[in-house]
Amino acid sequence: MRRIMVANPKGGSGKSTLAVHLASWFARNDELVYLGDLDRQQSTARWLAGRPRSLAPIRHWDIAGDEFDAPPKDCTVAILDTPAGLHGKRLKLALSAMDRIVVPVSPSRFDMLASRDFFEELAETKAVRKDRVDIAIVGMRVDPRTNASRLLVEYLQQFDLPLIACIRQSQRYVQAVETGVTLFDGNRIDPVDQLHWRPLLDWLVRRR
Ligand SMILES: Nc1ncnc2c1ncn2[C@@H]1O[C@H](COP(=O)(O)OP(=O)(O)OP(=O)(O)O)[C@@H](O)[C@H]1O
Ligand SMILES: [Mg+2]
Repeated sequence: MRRIMVANPKGGSGKSTLAVHLASWFARNDELVYLGDLDRQQSTARWLAGRPRSLAPIRHWDIAGDEFDAPPKDCTVAILDTPAGLHGKRLKLALSAMDRIVVPVSPSRFDMLASRDFFEELAETKAVRKDRVDIAIVGMRVDPRTNASRLLVEYLQQFDLPLIACIRQSQRYVQAVETGVTLFDGNRIDPVDQLHWRPLLDWLVRRR
C-alpha cells in the first residue's frame, strides 16, 4: 500500500488541490484509493461527496477527530490531506502512519519563509530521521521554466530537500475542483499540465 500525505502548515498553499488530483490520478490508474481529510473544514471530504459517480471511484477514508485509524485493509493507495497549522504531536502521529510526504510550496518569499519551521520540524521527526518517510517538494503555482522555480530550488538546497515538480497557476484547477473533478478526470489533460505532473507521479510510484 502507498501512503501519501500532503502537508504544509501554511494555509492556502495548495494541499487539498494536490491531494484530490493525486487521488483521482491513482483512481484512474485502477488503484483502490482512499482519501482522508484531517482538516476540520473537511474541504476534501466535501469535494469527494460532490464527486460525480460516473468517474473513477475514490473512497472516503474516515478519520475520526484526533484519533488516527489506519487506512482500510483493501486500500492500495491512501492519500491524506492535512490542515494548515499541522505540527507537534498531530504531525508526528500522521507521519508515523505514512511513507511519503508531498509538500506544496508557492514561490512567494512569505510562503518560503513560513515553510522554514516546518522543514526543520520535519527533519527532527523520528520517521524522517530513520528514513521511514520520503519527502518531495512541489512548487505550486510555479511555471518550471521561470526564475521563480530556480529561486525555489536554491531556497530548498539549505534543507537538502528536492523540488520534484512544479505545477503552474491555472484557473482550470480552481474550476475543476469546484465541480468534484480534477484535471485527470477528463479525457485529455493539457500536455503542458501533464508534463508538469509527470515527475511527481513517477516519484510516487517508484519503489522506496
Ligand atoms: N495550481 C493552481 N492554480 C490556480 N489556483 C490554484 C492552484 N492550486 C491551488 N489553487 C487555488 O488556491 C486556493 C488554495 O488552494 P488549496 O485549497 O488547495 O490550498 P490548501 O493548502 O488546501 O488550503 P488550506 O490550508 O486552507 O487547507 C484554492 O482556491 C485553489 O483552487
Ligand atoms: Mg486544504
